[in-house]
Amino acid sequence: MTTILGIESSCDETSAAVIVDGRMIRSSVVASQVDIHAQYGGVFPEIASRIHIESIYPVVEQALQQAEVTLGEIDAIAVTKGPGLAGSLVVGASMAKGLALGHGLPLVTINHLEGHIYALWLAGPEYRYVPGQPPAEQSGPFIPIEFPVVVLVVSGGHTELILMTGHGQYQRLGGTFDDAAGEAFDKVGRLLRLPYPGGPSIQKAAQNGRADAFDFPRVHLRSNQGQENYDFSFSGLKTAVLRMLQTLQPGYKPDDPLEPGVPVDDLAASFQAAVVDVLVEKAARAAREFEAREVFVAGGVSANAALRKAMIAGAGVPVRIPPLSLCTDNAAMIAAAGHHRFLAGQRDSLDFDIRATWPLA
Ligand code: KG4
Ligand code: ZN
Repeated sequence: MTTILGIESSCDETSAAVIVDGRMIRSSVVASQVDIHAQYGGVFPEIASRIHIESIYPVVEQALQQAEVTLGEIDAIAVTKGPGLAGSLVVGASMAKGLALGHGLPLVTINHLEGHIYALWLAGPEYRYVPGQPPAEQSGPFIPIEFPVVVLVVSGGHTELILMTGHGQYQRLGGTFDDAAGEAFDKVGRLLRLPYPGGPSIQKAAQNGRADAFDFPRVHLRSNQGQENYDFSFSGLKTAVLRMLQTLQPGYKPDDPLEPGVPVDDLAASFQAAVVDVLVEKAARAAREFEAREVFVAGGVSANAALRKAMIAGAGVPVRIPPLSLCTDNAAMIAAAGHHRFLAGQRDSLDFDIRATWPLA
């Protein structure tokens, strides 16, 4: 049995969790700063790191208390090394180093994107979806994961399509050339004057709108040989929404108030549909090409209901998507990844450096 303490502070959530055997969540504490950053319309890095400093100690203490374990019962500390905001990452890294040094514990450093993927090992059998079949019983056994798996990581900072061929083995199939999917949601949310973060706000507005009201572009990038590849581009879509707003409300500039007649709900639904279509089409095509056993969707945008529904219907293979609490940033997923790396023998030295940019594959 392994008991791992996970620590995550790469963006605007301070989080600690205790995970047993890479699958059982004994505790998961997340202190979100989202309300503070909302007033700036995005994450303010300097403020984020200051709040991490205030939160990290109580958050770790609470995670240990809720799990009813002492540091003496922990086998290793898994901590996010990157990618993320440097000033935020360094807070979690320093806490992990201090605890490791003080208690003689091994350190295992984790790539944040790998953490998002390992959220799927914490999700019960009811989060594996097969079209036309009812989900497995929540109390049923975990359905073992077979490789290869096509993974779509969609968050505020990343849009990556990855072929996972084994534990810790990744081949990058493609990614975004400009905005990440979550970033596009956040920017379009701002254009539509919806509250930050844009993702959940757009989803909410879209519920009352028509997805076919506006025909926004689906960008399918091609290689030099003319074949469609697995890369993404969302900045043109954001510009298309801006242009449409300028047609509907002549003279509109970002941050102008919107006139009452502007169909925000239809714009949100049509934008969301354009993002979802491209994500599902590419993931499904990759699953076919690489004969994937399953498709995983991870990262904050995997909380999106329209994406979940369309991916389950369109992937062509079973789809796993974590519960909402494991979609957005959390330390449980970092500890789950840490469990596999710890078993594989990974140990990191106390003088490791954080990595603000760090490709997974
Ligand atoms: O993974 P995450 O918590 O942080 C990063 O590592 O970036 O992802 C945050 C992103 C934000 O851009 C947010 O707007 C988006 O996930 N998001 C959503 C939804 N919930 C969160 N996007 C679309 N629909 C949602 N329901
Ligand atoms: Zn994340």
